[in-house]
Amino acid sequence: MKTTQKIGLFGFGVVGTGLYQILASQEKRKHPFLLDKIAVRNHNKQRKFSTHLLSTANDIYNTPQIEVVVEAIDDAQAALQIARRTLQSGKGLISANKKMLAENLPELIGLSVKHQVPLLYEAAVCGSIPIIRNLEDYYSFHALTELNGIINGSTNYILDQMQQHQESYQSALQKAQALGFAERDPSLDVEGFDASYKLQILILHAFGLYLKNEFIFRRGISDIGIDELRYAAQNDLKIKLIASAKLNDLQQLTDALVCPTLTKKSNPLSKIGGAQNAVLVGDQHIGFQLFEGQGAGDLATGSALFNDLSAAQRGYSYAYKKGIKTQEQPLAESSKKWVLGLKNKDLKNMRGVLPKIEKEFIIGNTYFVECLGSIQQIKELEKQFSFSLMRIPE
Ligand code: HSE
Repeated sequence: MKTTQKIGLFGFGVVGTGLYQILASQEKRKHPFLLDKIAVRNHNKQRKFSTHLLSTANDIYNTPQIEVVVEAIDDAQAALQIARRTLQSGKGLISANKKMLAENLPELIGLSVKHQVPLLYEAAVCGSIPIIRNLEDYYSFHALTELNGIINGSTNYILDQMQQHQESYQSALQKAQALGFAERDPSLDVEGFDASYKLQILILHAFGLYLKNEFIFRRGISDIGIDELRYAAQNDLKIKLIASAKLNDLQQLTDALVCPTLTKKSNPLSKIGGAQNAVLVGDQHIGFQLFEGQGAGDLATGSALFNDLSAAQRGYSYAYKKGIKTQEQPLAESSKKWVLGLKNKDLKNMRGVLPKIEKEFIIGNTYFVECLGSIQQIKELEKQFSFSLMRIPE
């Protein structure tokens, strides 16, 4: 016989209301979940849905029948307090907060093991795509070598609007906010932070390595301007914000980066439009496999939370079969191909320090330089000069 499981929800914004709608619409299928309480900071705020469930954090912690808590707030510090207290009080935790998770996973995994309660977070990475579950279970003993993905819906939407519909960056960003894709602080999206947190989580589940965020090389899309778009169009390429991680034969990360990337039409990631996300998982034996789905928005994220609730109810937990080994800085030694967009004044000074230059040309007000160099060399250049950066994949 099915027993009802009471759920406590923290946050009733885009993600929380997504779960609320999914739970309501799935009721006919007789799922066993009963949303019992929703803790919100401001009880007087106008909301999309009115509900009698609004409540406080203590009400949730102090209700023993609530065995699983869903955390769906965007403040990472507050989310961490909720996560710690939830696990310490012996309740399972389902979270969508990528920053909080990425920064604290070793501690939180320790707490979930100590208190023998589930900790699941599929909703934190790539919205509706069950990528963590696949990396964790389907690929549990596969020799994965590489991940390449579009893992931030807002920036993909903005770049798509700019490239397909000639929309301005500002107007596309405003639409991404209105559609509920962007973070409350959109610099987290456009500067690549959000993608870097998700990449940390993917690296853990793909390779069994925990890498601190500071070691991910990160570039966002805020300096992709009209000249960069023209460069891409002239070369029949698409600019995509791609997160990548690569492993060598010694199981060490050689690369971990988030960077605007010039993709050829033959690359499946070039066809991912709007707020869709996609991850190409590279396997030593079978090559690449593509996972694609809605990456942001209320129902995409709500559906991942709902699936985690079902998994937790069946007693599922991530097994971390590949381990949780901390890796310091990725090696980042290999040479890569880059396109730097410079303004006139810097060019003369930069020429002496630039990694091997292959081509130079001007589009509009920008001097473009195609060059070869390692991530370390690009980081050195960033300390002294300002330039837009796009990667040309091998
Ligand atoms: N701001 C995020 C994105 C939301 O655009 O992908 C989903 O994690």
